[in-house]
Amino acid sequence: MTKNGKFDGLANVTAGATAICTVGKEGTGLTYRGYSIEDLAGQARFEEIAYLLLYGELPTEQELNDYDNRLMSLRGLPAELKAVLEQLPGTADPMDVMRTGCSVLGCIEPECTFDQQYRIAERMLALFPSILAYWYRFHRDGIRIDTESEERTVSGYFLHLLSGTKPPALHQRALDVSLILYAEHEFNASTFAARVAASTLSDMYSCVTAAIGTLRGPLHGGANEAAMELISRFDSIEDVEPALKTALARKEKIMGFGHRVYNVSDPRSPIIEGWSRRLADDSGDDRVFRISKEIETVMWQQKKLFPNLDFYSASTYHYMGIPVPLYTPIFVCSRVSGWAAHIMEQRADNALIRPTADYVGSEERSFVPMEKRHKAHYG
Ligand code: COA
Repeated sequence: MTKNGKFDGLANVTAGATAICTVGKEGTGLTYRGYSIEDLAGQARFEEIAYLLLYGELPTEQELNDYDNRLMSLRGLPAELKAVLEQLPGTADPMDVMRTGCSVLGCIEPECTFDQQYRIAERMLALFPSILAYWYRFHRDGIRIDTESEERTVSGYFLHLLSGTKPPALHQRALDVSLILYAEHEFNASTFAARVAASTLSDMYSCVTAAIGTLRGPLHGGANEAAMELISRFDSIEDVEPALKTALARKEKIMGFGHRVYNVSDPRSPIIEGWSRRLADDSGDDRVFRISKEIETVMWQQKKLFPNLDFYSASTYHYMGIPVPLYTPIFVCSRVSGWAAHIMEQRADNALIRPTADYVGSEERSFVPMEKRHKAHYG
């Protein structure tokens, strides 16, 4: 539990069982429901993955078609939610908007029985891109967008809402793959937060709200935005090495590198790097990609640290023209599929998650009445 006498964040602790995902332990690679991430990212689309995570099996063509139609029919924003999104400041952190949007939806369409859990999971999958794009376009462009759309895929739908035009096929597929890669990752911090909330038999919205708040931090989902901020600091490749050496000497964390579970590489990273490269080539300006490559090289030379999924997701989103503050909310739009699958799995075989702690505080002592307390005790 501890490393050098310090809390190690439950590293290598098995905190439960799951049939949803493996993350490379005991000789396995990254798999969702038994399928390798390479096969899924190469051959499937995000809606198939969401279905697989929630229902346990890949959909047939008919099932996928029906699922697409269902998700498309659930994209409409309730008027009360629109009103809240309009009232939130345009300067708010978009992750706070997602967290609030999820919570407000729970007030408007509450989960009254667990029989509603699949429908609510699908509603969130369908609606989260609408929430993000509606708030963003209202405050940036001063318009109320129509969130109904003919776009069948979540990726095409989101990009279309964001720009107001049909996205290029290459961008749509790049985002689609990114959503697949972000969909699920076993007992990561946000999923674990969702499962802790689920273990109290709380409602789906509360579980997902807890997960969004947990994903927000730069050690977790927020790393993709922090990675882009780092990449953007450099004008040329020559600037990278000295700046990183200085940062590492100061013991700064370089976001988008390292992983709690993986030791030598993150299997998702080469896949998203390939997409970053393709988009860079397509754009005719590969400077951001080349700077990213140089950061990767220096991090390996200096610290033997490898890029995780968040690092090349940053340049991939950059080449699609997605604003940086929306990077982590896009992660939410995808990971909600994994969170929902875990919430359902937790509910199906539940025990309250309530660990214990080693006590390191003062020894037991007598209560001090007010008149006998001296300022010195309390600084
Ligand atoms: N940059 C610089 N040093 C790093 C690092 C990074 N990204 N990741 C790990 N290290 C170093 C630590 O400073 C520490 O060095 P030390 O032993 O000299 O103190 C050592 O590697 C172990 O790191 P630690 O943070 O204790 O390991 P962890 O298992 O708790 O860390 C992460 C996992 C993901 C939290 C960590 O790698 C990190 O903070 N990465 C950056 C954030 C990020 O990309 N998050 C997304 C994860 S998918």
